Amino acid sequence: MSGSLTSLQSAVDDRSAAIGVIGLGYVGLPAACMFANAGFKVNGVDLNGPRTATINAGRSPIEGDEPGLADLVSGVVASRRLRTSTAYSDLADTDVVLICVDTPVDPDHRPRFGALRSACSRLGEVLKDGALVIIESTIAPGTIESVVKPALEASSGRRAGTGFYLGHCPERVMPGKLLRNMRTMSRVCGGSSAEVADLMIALYSTFVEGDLDSADCLTAELVKTAENAYRDVGIAFANQLALICERVGGDAWRVRRLVNKVPGRDILLPGGGVGGHCIPKDSWLLAAPLGDSAEDSLLGVARRINDGMPAHVAGLVSGLLVPDRKARVAVLGFAYLENSDDTRNSPSEELIRVLSARGFDVAVHDPFVREYHGNVMDTLRDADCAVLMVAHTAYKDLDLNAAAKVMRTPALVDARGFFEPDKLKQAGFRYRLIGVGDPSEAYEVSS
Ligand SMILES: NC(=O)c1ccc[n+]([C@@H]2O[C@H](COP(=O)([O-])OP(=O)(O)OC[C@H]3O[C@@H](n4cnc5c(N)ncnc54)[C@H](O)[C@@H]3O)[C@@H](O)[C@H]2O)c1
Repeated sequence: MSGSLTSLQSAVDDRSAAIGVIGLGYVGLPAACMFANAGFKVNGVDLNGPRTATINAGRSPIEGDEPGLADLVSGVVASRRLRTSTAYSDLADTDVVLICVDTPVDPDHRPRFGALRSACSRLGEVLKDGALVIIESTIAPGTIESVVKPALEASSGRRAGTGFYLGHCPERVMPGKLLRNMRTMSRVCGGSSAEVADLMIALYSTFVEGDLDSADCLTAELVKTAENAYRDVGIAFANQLALICERVGGDAWRVRRLVNKVPGRDILLPGGGVGGHCIPKDSWLLAAPLGDSAEDSLLGVARRINDGMPAHVAGLVSGLLVPDRKARVAVLGFAYLENSDDTRNSPSEELIRVLSARGFDVAVHDPFVREYHGNVMDTLRDADCAVLMVAHTAYKDLDLNAAAKVMRTPALVDARGFFEPDKLKQAGFRYRLIGVGDPSEAYEVSS
């Protein structure tokens, strides 16, 4: 091990290493807090001044139910272990810097690494000799070599592997479980050499209870994007099966139950689309090395199937409505995930866009999203059709008989398999369940 790696190792062991975190969002803020709580001095940098001011005042800028985060922020700020600012110069004395900026894809599905490039360039200008830079953001395979390393080398005037060290330790958090996942999930520690990976394992073991696996940077890039793309493809299969079952008058829910009796089969649930910050973009990040053929790859096709589900749900709604009448549709659930307030890439947003473009009046309810709070019966009043988009537990208490009475025509599309069909029928609803076709309208296979 080189001299500077050995001294970094002992600074990690005795917690004297100074840690910097760039980007204080869903990933960077809890990571900064966890390291501060483990005994390190942490400097956070974010371009968003109001955000850093909120953190320095001891408050978490992340809304929604994040167990433990608000207390942790106030604790580590009060103990002066965490300080944040908008100034990269505050990172000049840091031994380890985590980069946690956003890594979106463009409308043409290509990675947009502007924030990452800018963070690396600005960090390079102040980077301490022998520091370790760890990318926590999710990145396309090859990004450490093609984007991160050149940007840091150019701005620092040093060479990776001697003047500074590089690692990639992708995050596995989920909104609503940020701290729990950060503490308990296993992590891949991809280092630019085996010694760097070992140092990263020592660093993360100060608070991670899950496995810490040593790897190279490329493997870490592939693992993170593959785990999310795998889920996206799995959901797309369930949705594709649902569309086929609808076409032939079958029942995808029943088919799924029976298929899953076979060992090794585990079909996921169909639904009205895939949302959130990560899954919809990470398939494109994994597919990025394919260039133009990414669109026609399995990953691209899966993305299109999932992206098309809100419009498909809009079609089911249209099928239940009386033609040529200005109809009112009540959408239940706006968050992308049940019992969460996270609305990033919400499939409901796309559904509402499609319904509005078709000329329907759309009312929205969500018990977790401030903009759509209120009495669900008020949202359903005079509606011609309701759509259950998100399986929020609170909707289990919906009085279906009362709902049918306040609606102008009791019709419902269930995009999550949430309600019991018998109860909907008893309450007088005409309904469509995603993935279930009408045998009387079944498509016939031509011979
Ligand atoms: N949110 C999740 O649940 C989650 C889970 C796993 C991985 N990730 C990945 O982690 C990364 C960050 O995601 P996030 O949800 O925390 O994003 P976010 O948008 O919540 O936070 C990013 C922060 O970076 C700041 N920023 C952007 N450019 C900057 C720059 N040049 N210098 C300093 N600050 C800058 C922004 O102001 C923002 O506060 C992404 O790559 C994402 O895919 C996110």
